[in-house]
Amino acid sequence: MSSRPISHIIEPQVVIEGAGVKLRRSIMPQRSNEYDPFLLFDHFAFLDPLESEPVGFPMHPHRGIETVTYMLAGSTHHRDSLGNVGLIGPGDVQWMTSGRGIMHEEMPRRGPDGTVAGFQLWVNLPAAKKMTTPRYQDVSAETIPVVSRNGTDVRVVAGEVWGTQGPVTEIAAHPLYLDVTLSAGASFEQSIPQGHTALAYVFEGASTFGGETVEAVRLVVFGDGERIEAHSETGGRFMLMAGAPFREPIVPYGPFVMNTVEEIQQVLLELRQGTFIKQ
Ligand code: CO
Repeated sequence: MSSRPISHIIEPQVVIEGAGVKLRRSIMPQRSNEYDPFLLFDHFAFLDPLESEPVGFPMHPHRGIETVTYMLAGSTHHRDSLGNVGLIGPGDVQWMTSGRGIMHEEMPRRGPDGTVAGFQLWVNLPAAKKMTTPRYQDVSAETIPVVSRNGTDVRVVAGEVWGTQGPVTEIAAHPLYLDVTLSAGASFEQSIPQGHTALAYVFEGASTFGGETVEAVRLVVFGDGERIEAHSETGGRFMLMAGAPFREPIVPYGPFVMNTVEEIQQVLLELRQGTFIKQ
């Protein structure tokens, strides 16, 4: 059983997206597809009470990907072209499979203490599922299992920890998505199939992986191996994600990720013709 080493560490860059939302971006869709099946990881944590009212992401389309919203504080009001409306609150997850296409609006709202914080992860879809029917898995905070052992608490969104299965299922990338909190001196070990891509976003405190200590806020990219070993001397929290790469060429274009340039041209044509949304 080999433990995965750290391959490299990414320092998130501050970017402005949507109607002016400040984000920490660690990875974004690129043709090199280095983090296959993961495409993007954004951390929105800049909406502090001293800033002006939060702006959001007004109506925009997606095709060919899954967007995963995980709220830590505050909420995101969501509305889409299929008539779905809802609030993603603290601890809630929305796993949205855009498939052939949706148009949606994602607007952050402050929590009682005035803050909004959370993550958006984009997961790729394989060619065979890019034009699938759009699907939502809306998971409320209470239905996400938390498993605890020896000072380690793990919220299981997708995948399995200590025999407990996360509520998000039937995702093409066979993802693991965990929110791991280590109290001072605690450890965590998770097996991950060899060949799967594995990333950890350290957003509180510090954690040690494969002998190397990583302080918040950083994205850790793991090399191959059979398991992740994490430990924290002083306490730490990270999102752990892993998934099976599709090993297909990708062509990203804004909120769309397809396999060929022709498929991107097709998206743009359908948007112009008003045939993008299919009933
Ligand atoms: Co979106």
